[in-house]
Formats: sequence, C-alpha cells, structure tokens
Amino acid sequence: QTVTLEGWVDTSRRLGGLVFLDLRDRHGLTQVVVEPQREDIYAAAERLRSEYVVSIQGVVEAREGGANARLATGEVEVRATSIELLNAAEPLPFTVSSHADKNVGASDDLRMRYRYLDLRRPELARNLVLRHQVYQITRRHFDRHGFLEIETPVLMKSTPEGARDFLVPSRVHPGKFYALPQSPQTYKQILMVAGLDRYMQITKCFRDEDLRADRQPEFTQIDVEMSFAREEIVQAIIEELMVTLWRETKGVELATPFPRMSYADAMRRFGSDKPDLRFAMEIHDLSAHAAGSGFRVFEDALAGDGGAVVALVVPGAGDWGRGQLDRLDKDVVRGRLRAGGLIHTRRPSAGGDAVSSVKAEALPAEVVARMLAAAGVASGEALFVLAGPSSKVFQQAGDLRLHLGRELGLIPAPGAEGAGAAEGPWAFHWVTEFPLLEYSEDDGRYYAMHHPFTSPVAEDLPLLATDPGKVRARAYDLVLNGTELGGGSIRIHDRAVQQQMFDALGIGEAEAQARFGFLLDAFRYGAPPHGGIALGLDRLVMLLTGAPSLRDVIAFPKTQSAQEPMVASPDTVDDAQLRELHIRTVLPEG
Ligand code: AMO
Repeated sequence: QTVTLEGWVDTSRRLGGLVFLDLRDRHGLTQVVVEPQREDIYAAAERLRSEYVVSIQGVVEAREGGANARLATGEVEVRATSIELLNAAEPLPFTVSSHADKNVGASDDLRMRYRYLDLRRPELARNLVLRHQVYQITRRHFDRHGFLEIETPVLMKSTPEGARDFLVPSRVHPGKFYALPQSPQTYKQILMVAGLDRYMQITKCFRDEDLRADRQPEFTQIDVEMSFAREEIVQAIIEELMVTLWRETKGVELATPFPRMSYADAMRRFGSDKPDLRFAMEIHDLSAHAAGSGFRVFEDALAGDGGAVVALVVPGAGDWGRGQLDRLDKDVVRGRLRAGGLIHTRRPSAGGDAVSSVKAEALPAEVVARMLAAAGVASGEALFVLAGPSSKVFQQAGDLRLHLGRELGLIPAPGAEGAGAAEGPWAFHWVTEFPLLEYSEDDGRYYAMHHPFTSPVAEDLPLLATDPGKVRARAYDLVLNGTELGGGSIRIHDRAVQQQMFDALGIGEAEAQARFGFLLDAFRYGAPPHGGIALGLDRLVMLLTGAPSLRDVIAFPKTQSAQEPMVASPDTVDDAQLRELHIRTVLPEG
C-alpha cells in the first residue's frame, strides 16, 4: 500500500548506502528507508536532522532483515517515494528521541523551560493519553449513574478547606478579593439543597501550600456529591469507578468491596492514616510487656498515661551486623524520624541466643524473652523497638515500617501483577471514622480535621460539648498504596448540629454568618441529607502510570518553587494594572 506519513524525524542514520529514518508522532515510530537509486529524494533525505518535520510518501513493505519486536510497527518499513520538508528544527537543547535515555544531559529546569520538547518524549505523552482516558471513563461512569456535571465558579470566596487561598483582586470593588476555590465544597452542597441530586465535576482546585511530589498548587479533583447518600452508597459508586478505570486502562480486575479500616486501627496497626497495605509488618504494641521492666527508657515512656512501647518484626534483620543497625539508628530513627532511638533484639538464623542492643543489666532477659514471644519473632528476624509518647511513637514506627518495606524490597511494584506478594500491587482500602476535630497545641483550639461541614457520628454527638477530641466523623478516605487518593464525608444538614460544630471550633454566630451565611441560610429551606467525596485526579493518574511525581502527569506543572518556567509565571505586572486593581506592593526587605 502507498501511504503518506507526517511527523518528526526521531533519528536518521546511513547504513550500507541506505538512509534510515525513524519517523515519530504521538502514536509511535515507523522506519522509513530511502534508497540511493531514488536520486530525486536521496540528497534531501541525507539533509534531514532530528526533529525536522516531514511529509513522506512511500510503499509499506515487510521489513528487510527481520522484524523489530520492540516496535509496534516492527514488521514493516516504508520505502520512500517522495519527501517533503515541512519545517526544519534548530538543534534541540536536549535530546527527545525515543531511543534516548531521559536523563541524558538535561536538568529538570531546562526540561521545564522547554516543556513542549519534553512532552515529545513518548513516556510523558503516554501519561497524558492515559489521563485523557481517565477523564472519559470517569464521565461515562457518572453519567451512567445519573450524575450531572455542573460547573461551579472559579472566582469565589475564601473556603474553609484549611490551606492558604490564592486571591484575585477585584477591580470594581476596591479592596475586595475573590478567592480561587480550594474545592467546590460549599457550592456542591448547595446544589444538593437545590434538588439536583447527583453532581460531579472534573475541576481545578487551588491551594497555596508547600509543594511535594504528590502536591501541586493547582490540581484537579473528581468532585462528587449525592443527596440521600450514606457512606456505603458513595463508597460503592467510587469502587465501581476504580474497577472500571483499572479494567479499561490496565486490564487489571480489582476485587471489591475494598477493605475498611477505622482511623484508630490504621494508626495503631500501621502508624498512618494512609497505610500502605501492599505488605504486612504490623506494629506490635508491647507496652504491657515492657511495663515494670526497670529499664529506664521504657519506664520513662510509660510513666503517665500517654506513652507506648511499640515494635516491628523485621525479616532478615536477625543477621544484620552492628554497623548496619547503628546506621539505621543514627540516620533514620534519630535522624529522619526524630525518635528517641532504636532498641533492637535480633535472633540470628544460625540459632543461639538473641542479641540485644541494650545490656542485660539494664533490660532483664525475661523482659526481652517476653517481648520476643509476644511479637512472635522467629530466628533470622529482629525486633525493632521504639518507646515514647503515643502521639508520636506510632507514627514513627509507621514511618520506620515504610522505610524498611522499601529497603527490604517488601513492597510489590505495580505492574508486577501476580509476582507472588500476598497483598498484591494495588492495595486499595477505605480509612473510616476519622476524628472530627484536631487540637492545635500552638493555637490552643480545635480545628476541623476535614472541614466544618462533616457530620459527627450520631452516637458521639453529646461528646461535642464535653470531649470534642473524642468525636468521630462520618468521614472516609480512599487510600491506594500508601497515598491518599480521595476524601469525603456525610455532611451536616441540620442547622442545630452545624451550630454545635461551630461552637466546638470557637466560631461565633456572627463569624459563622459572615463566612458561611449563604450555606446556613440554604439549610433552612429543606436541605436533604447528603454526602460526597473528591478524588485527586492527578494522584490517580500518577499511581496508574507509576510516575514518581505529579509533574509527570500534568501537561504544564509548577516546579518545587511554585513557578512555571516556560511562561515564567508568576511575574510582575505594570503599575497601571496595579493601580486599576487598587493594589500597592510591599516587598519583603532584601
Ligand atoms: P481533600 O482536601 O481531602 O477534600 O481533597 C481531596 C483529594 O484531592 C487531592 N489533593 C491534592 N492533589 C494534588 N495536589 C494537592 N495540593 C492536593 N490537595 C488535595 C487528594 C485528596 O485526597 N472538599 C473535600 C472533598 C469532600 O469532602 O467531598 C476536599 O477537597 O487526592
């Protein structure tokens, strides 16, 4: 067949008098061959350089010299009959060829400045294709279930989501500001009062917070709200979406329902509200066994009622040497985790006595034996023990667990389906019954852990006035492989309960009216019970693609310092623009 191919020259080379071109577009590569007999086009072919844009006509033939199994088009090549140069390209600041290693000779900064070139790399382009699929599958899923996609304003006012707002000055209202939404939370609840029943939106959210690999100042949510919802209904709809996404983009069948775990259990067993359940290594609370040991570190930790002695059973560590254990203690436990220090007892695989880091005079042998037995430490394993205040030590043990999981290769990588790990590479689960409120030592007051519209668990309601820290919320997070993919809740729809919540938060009636009067007013006129959730779409795509950072799944992301180097934002504006907005800038000293 005669075909016309248009695209970029990925690579060109001369071999045995022939010119070979790999032609690239977003679908992949095709090999083009130009023979010296074709005098009309041969010289033109020789002049083609990487990234020139060309239109080539030719005949598809079986590839001479055997198929290339690594290419989708590897069985064929196109024998060129005409070549048209559509546009030349200057030498690129870095290589984008499909054959090049992505790390060759280009800093992150350079790649970001020339993002359109970096996006020519098949890896990044593939991520955006998958992202597109996620939009389509998501919309189809919610449409099938009767959800309406409704846009909510981007110019709104400050929402109580807890991060800093991005503000937009008003020209027509001097001194007033819009805020970009941290989420459409209040609007979507009002849509429920409006009777629209089932809402969804794939929407941008804006939060002025510090960047991390899984955080961007502007990001995308799959935002959902349902009237007459209960936890199980919201969760089932989301589980079905996950099943469909994984089936249609990866050919993986996820098992449902996803496991549920309460926040209290997650903290106690894994030291995290988003535990990575791809591997076991649960935290053992050995406080009862450590009590009365006479060992000062344990005694200090357990004095009063807020302390704990916790431990991990670590496979393979029974044979670790002194140096390895000391390094872990110094660099990780005391260094990164800021814990008091690692106490360890190991049981060499060759058998014999257990070896402890603490001298027998300080820690009696029967206490060590009790702890080893309670945690079920076998030979070849070690017991790593941390002691300290419960508010810290469970989390530290959780962080140590993650560190060890990675170091010891206990975490099955996604993509390694059926690699033999019992827990599997896609560990979805729900964390439920979050605390409603969180106490801030610094500010001496409670804050809503999620947002102030989250409904308390009914039986805990009386505690709101007496012991607010104990109240559980009807809130749930969807966790995948140790990442918080989404969070939601059943909301308060009753004005009286809402007022109790504001009281617990120390938000007076006047302030509540000033900030959320529109919502409180709406609740007077027949608000249905409702609830919902928002999923981080960027995080979802990051996990689906296995990308290490959100930046790899966003076309034009921000850097660590919240800049977009290609267009160079943020940027200054001229004085006239500022005057029009009634703004004068006061820059920090220096
Ligand atoms: P929440 O604040 O938990 O809930 O956000 C929901 C999900 O959005 C994602 N996410 C982010 N992704 C990238 N960069 C960020 N800076 C960022 N911040 C959050 C996370 C998170 O789980 N209105 C509520 C939802 C509700 O109650 O319905 C909300 O926004 O994946």
